[in-house]
Amino acid sequence: MEIIIKDTYDEMCRSAAKIVAKTLNCKPDAVLGLATGSTPLALYKELVRLHQEDGLDFSQVTTFNLDEYVGLRRDNPQSYHYFMHENLFKHVNIPRQNIHIPSGTTDNYEAFCRWYEEQIVQCGGIDLQILGIGSDGHIAFNEPTSSLGSRTRIKTLARQTIEDNARFFDKPEDVPIYAITMGVGTILEANKILLLAAGKNKAQAVAAAIEGPITSMITASALQLHREVICFLDREAASQLKLVDYYDWIESQRPGAPSQAPAPHFSKLRQLRSEVR
Ligand code: GLP
Repeated sequence: MEIIIKDTYDEMCRSAAKIVAKTLNCKPDAVLGLATGSTPLALYKELVRLHQEDGLDFSQVTTFNLDEYVGLRRDNPQSYHYFMHENLFKHVNIPRQNIHIPSGTTDNYEAFCRWYEEQIVQCGGIDLQILGIGSDGHIAFNEPTSSLGSRTRIKTLARQTIEDNARFFDKPEDVPIYAITMGVGTILEANKILLLAAGKNKAQAVAAAIEGPITSMITASALQLHREVICFLDREAASQLKLVDYYDWIESQRPGAPSQAPAPHFSKLRQLRSEVR
């Protein structure tokens, strides 16, 4: 894991946006995995700015969102469909048909979840996955004790998550109890992952995910198994990490670091595997 600690939330999001922009510049038809929540807001704002001011092109991009609340229609202001439209999609040129967000209102969740997984595979897998982290260490809505091999499915939200997310709703009782979410296993198949975390209330979960044991109690800890994760943190979110000095030292030495061969591309590997079969 690469740990990049920035002094401010905005700085952290601008750095993460640079990685997204670099991905699109190298691969204009990249498949992006997208997250909701307050954390990626400034990242999306920066991507919008890069699109509007610098011409960052999304016209060939495909997206898959991590999750959605069960029971919320797409026009509900608390739905993740609405969030994504307001904060990113309506400002950039991603073709509508390339946008995928789990449905919170399907008649058949099991079939939908299977279809969602198949769509990801058909699009060649996710090139770059953006993640936030819940205060209980979850990624997407993979609450504690979710299987680290899990796929897209329905999850019952933990009380902590319902409490945390109540701030977006009029009343805490309005927070849905169920969500449809990509699994930890689905997320781990992305070629590259950016985990973003900001603020003191994430510090404990961040420390457990990065420096603790791999455990389904903190599903973000499964990211330790992935070969290319970059964690962008602000100082507060990094405040409980034991090796902060080491992470800062690595960053300060980066300009002189020997260059590394890029990891093999996941979709390329999948293509090779299917050719061998
Ligand atoms: C929700 C989302 C997660 C997100 C988390 C943290 O639970 N399902 O994807 O990472 O909230 O949200 P925030 O960034 O608002 O703290």
